[in-house]
Amino acid sequence: MKILVTGGTGYIGSHTCVELLDAGYEVVIIDNLSNSKIDVVDKIKKITNKDFKFYKGDLCDYNILDKIFSENKIDAVIHFAGFKAVGESVSMPLKYYRNNLDSTLTLLEVMNKYNCKKIAFSSSATVYGKPESLPIKEDFPLSTTNPYGTTKLIIEGILRDLYKSDNEWSIAILRYFNPIGAHKSGLIGENPNDIPNNLMPYIVKVATKELDCLNVFGDDYDTKDGTGVRDYIHVVDLAKGHIKAIEKILNETGIDAYNLGTGNGYSVLELVNTFKKVNGVDVKYKIVDRRPGDIDACYADNSYAKEKLNWEAKLGIEDMCKDSYNFVKNSNEKK
Ligand code: WQD
Repeated sequence: MKILVTGGTGYIGSHTCVELLDAGYEVVIIDNLSNSKIDVVDKIKKITNKDFKFYKGDLCDYNILDKIFSENKIDAVIHFAGFKAVGESVSMPLKYYRNNLDSTLTLLEVMNKYNCKKIAFSSSATVYGKPESLPIKEDFPLSTTNPYGTTKLIIEGILRDLYKSDNEWSIAILRYFNPIGAHKSGLIGENPNDIPNNLMPYIVKVATKELDCLNVFGDDYDTKDGTGVRDYIHVVDLAKGHIKAIEKILNETGIDAYNLGTGNGYSVLELVNTFKKVNGVDVKYKIVDRRPGDIDACYADNSYAKEKLNWEAKLGIEDMCKDSYNFVKNSNEKK
C-alpha cells in the first residue's frame, strides 16, 4: 500500500513516515520545506533503512500533485501540510486562509481525479475553543478563536460535505492535543530556528542556554497550580495513531473525528519540573501576564479513539521530556 504524506518532513509528518515505513507501507512525501529541512529525508531513511520518494513542491500547485498521482498509485493520503502558528495566523489571516484552504482543495480535487478517496486529516483540539467541561469528547461544540483554528474547522466542514456528496470517500479527522517529544534515535524532532511559540521547544532552548528564561504565561488560571493545563502527547504515540487511522480508512468508507490525546492534563509548572528532574538541568522561569487567547485547561476524552481505532498513547510525560531534550542536544552536538 502506498501512502502520500503531505508535509512529511515536518515534525509530526516525519515521525508518521517512520511509523508507516516500519509498518511496511510505501511512502511518498510532498513538502515545500517552508517549515522543515531537506535533511529530514535522509534521517527518515537512516532510522528505517527504507527508501521512499520525496517531491519538493507546494500543494497549491495542481501540476506537481497531478504529476505525483500520475507517477504513483496512491492508496491513501495523510494531509499534514499547512501553516500552524496561532499567533502568526492572527496577524496574517489571509496568508493562512489562502495557504491552508487552497492547498487542501487542490489536494482533494486531484485525489478525486485519480479516484483516491481515502484521507487522514491533521486537525487540532483548537477546534473545541474554550470547552464547557473536561475531558473533551468529539461531539463537544466546535468554535475557534483564531484563523489557524478556523482553517482547521473549515477543512473539517469541506471533508464532511465531500463525504455527503460521495459516500465512496473514507475520511479520518484527527484532532491532536499537544504533541511534544521526539524519536528515541535523536535524529528527528522539533527544534524551531526562531523564538518558539510553544512551551516545550521554549523550555528546551532555556535548558540548552539558547534562551535565558521561560516566561510562564499566567499563574491565575482555574487549575491545580494556576498555570495552564494541557494534554501533552508524545509525537511517536501520535504517529502511531495515524497508522491505526490509515488501517481503518483503507478498509472502509465513512467519515469520523477522533481525539488523539492521552487524557491526562499537566500544568506548565508540572511540565517544567518534570523536565528539570528527568534531564538533570535547570530551567529558569518567571511568571508573567497571561497570553491573549489562552484557555485554562484542555485535555481529551480519548475513549472513542481507543474504541474505534484500537489506539491509545503509551508514553508518559517523562519520556516526552527526555526525548525532547535528547533530540536538541543531539542536533546541537552535530552543528
Ligand atoms: C501550552 C501552555 C501556554 C509558551 C497550541 C495551538 C494548538 C497546537 C499546539 C497546532 C499554555 C503555556 C506556552 C510559553 C507558556 N498547535 N506557555 N510559555 O497554546 O496549548 O496549543 O500549540 O496544532 O493548535 O493552539 O500550546 O505550547 O503554546 O502552550 O507559559 O513560552 O504553555 O500559556 O498554557 P497551546 P503552547
